[in-house]
Amino acid sequence: MSGMVTASYICASILFILSLGGLSNQETSRRGNLYGMAGMALAIVATVFSGQVGGYAWIAVAVLVGGAAGWAVASRVEMTAMPQLVAIMHSFVGLAAVLVGFANYIDPAVQMTGVEKTIHEVEIYIGVLIGAVTFTGSVIAFGKLQGVIGSKPLILPGRHWLNLAIGLSCIWLGVVFVGAHEVDTGLVPLLIMTGLAFAFGVHMVMAIGGADMPVVISMLNSYSGWAAAAAGFMLSNDLLIVTGALVGSSGAILSYIMCRAMNRNFFAVIMGGFGGVGTVSAGTEDGEVQPVSAEEVAEMLTGSQNVVIVPGYGMAVAHAQHPVSEMTQALRNQGVNVRFAIHPVAGRMPGHMNVLLAEAKVPYDIVLEMDEINDDFPDTDVVLVIGANDIVNPSALEDPEGPIAGMPVLEVWNAQTTVVMKRSMATGYAGVQNPLFFKDNTRMLFGDAREMIDAVFKHI
Ligand code: TAP
Repeated sequence: MSGMVTASYICASILFILSLGGLSNQETSRRGNLYGMAGMALAIVATVFSGQVGGYAWIAVAVLVGGAAGWAVASRVEMTAMPQLVAIMHSFVGLAAVLVGFANYIDPAVQMTGVEKTIHEVEIYIGVLIGAVTFTGSVIAFGKLQGVIGSKPLILPGRHWLNLAIGLSCIWLGVVFVGAHEVDTGLVPLLIMTGLAFAFGVHMVMAIGGADMPVVISMLNSYSGWAAAAAGFMLSNDLLIVTGALVGSSGAILSYIMCRAMNRNFFAVIMGGFGGVGTVSAGTEDGEVQPVSAEEVAEMLTGSQNVVIVPGYGMAVAHAQHPVSEMTQALRNQGVNVRFAIHPVAGRMPGHMNVLLAEAKVPYDIVLEMDEINDDFPDTDVVLVIGANDIVNPSALEDPEGPIAGMPVLEVWNAQTTVVMKRSMATGYAGVQNPLFFKDNTRMLFGDAREMIDAVFKHI
């Protein structure tokens, strides 16, 4: 039996690695997902029937309840709400690590002495610490993404000193915990540390502004992996260690890539409380805008040689990707060179725009990353910004005190004409006013992205 379990664990680990490999490319991502599902199914079956666990009735009930809840939520979730779903799932991983840690510590069946006991207690302590930070951090991230908590950063006075004090207290409590001879006396420092780690998770994510949320999501993704790996050590489960390490390290790599894309310091991010502390504009108008009609936009587009489309969160909300794809095809048929410019944090999750455009069958070769296309804007006749805001905000480059200062953006204002399609003068996710709307060569096409694209397409 033990040989079968080990073989299953190795197969599941390989499937998880293949899954990550598949997910790194749009064309192989479906296969990657299937590998991941197969790996997880194998892992669950092998663990349940490994002979190391009892209480099958309880497990069956938990699988049914959890599976039904997961099915109900995931099948109904809107594409735009996917990041919130991911954030709340990370919180479950964190909470699970905390519960496993406590259960393991008070379990009378776990009898260890000497070095083995110390190592086990260090595993429990670290697992509970990471799990607790992940839990509350993810719950706050969920609230910010869902709009229940404002995207404005909440900066407490002396936040870095507060973080340092929490960090040092956790180290000291850890020493007391490992030195305790009785479970009852050890529980006290463990509980206090858990409370501090909960508070740290809240403080860390509350201090982060809207525009920096992508980095937080990938960072919490990484933390949830390490929490799972720590739970694997506590339970002596090799597969959980491997899986946790895969999630933890791939999340860390994603965080690093996100940090580079956002021009943020990786270490400042993982220590918490990073990002701009500048004032967030309430979105008051500061100039005249020049509205334009759908018919005029259609004329501009058909009279152009080079057009670049910049999709953003609004395109996802309006489900406008299919009409956008049809309009693109119509323009290309008329000999217009249409390309798409994708900002690394457009929308609300990594690759959000790529997924939508792929779903609408936009050819991959005309979908370009920010670095590939930013220098081409001066040679572009018309840029069509569809429901994007922060990612085309020139204040990121012009206002060193602003909350999005330093974030690389798509420099659409360098084109001959920029048409911005959105419903109102409202700000984007970071809550910052956008001077692009007031530039001489910018035209505003107000309305829902889908309706406006349909209207433009009709005139084309
Ligand atoms: P945003 O800055 O959020 O701007 C989206 C714009 O779309 C809004 O200003 C809104 O203006 C407009 N809009 C909303 N619904 C619309 C509709 N139905 N039709 C037309 N327009 C609509 O989006 P972005 O430019 O894509 O930037 C993404 C932001 O989200 C960045 O700040 C980024 O840091 C943050 N973020 C990204 C991620 C990832 S990983 N991508 C994760 C979390 C947060 P109106 O209300 O006036 O229409």
